[in-house]
Amino acid sequence: TEQTLVLVKPDGVRRNLIGEVIARIERKGYSIVDLKFVQPNESLLREHYEEHVDKPFFPSLLEFMMSGPMVAIRVEGDRVVEGFRSLAGETNPTTAAPGTIRGDLGRDWGTAAIENVVHGSDSTLSAERELAIWFK
Ligand code: GTP
Ligand code: MG
Repeated sequence: TEQTLVLVKPDGVRRNLIGEVIARIERKGYSIVDLKFVQPNESLLREHYEEHVDKPFFPSLLEFMMSGPMVAIRVEGDRVVEGFRSLAGETNPTTAAPGTIRGDLGRDWGTAAIENVVHGSDSTLSAERELAIWFK
């Protein structure tokens, strides 16, 4: 078995989609083993998105991710890292496949940052690194 980090991003919390995200995780058969509200500061987000800090979109990503509380969820199950990425769908919510969280619940809003409802770790190594950051 393995674990992954899921974040319900500020747009998901504002739009009252916490329960919808949790329901999809649970219906798929994965287990929620820890969960909390977090209002992250800049240094936590720089650590979390270390691969993106030098990209041109990083300032708007940072502003979006600090725009309100998030829900951090520790999810467990066999191949859950890959499995949750599949549930979440591709990064861009306009083109994410219907049936996925981003495809069903997200869209472009004309904002500088891509608002795509959830984050999921992209590898088992990222999952271990990110879980250590969010659940210290
Ligand atoms: P996360 O689960 O949030 O990590 O998304 P992801 O793994 O699908 O995408 P990635 O890690 O590549 O990018 C992290 C976040 O940065 C995305 O969710 C977007 O909000 C934002 N982002 C990524 N690429 C771009 C881009 O080309 N332009 C803009 N404006 N934002 C981007
Ligand atoms: Mg990512």
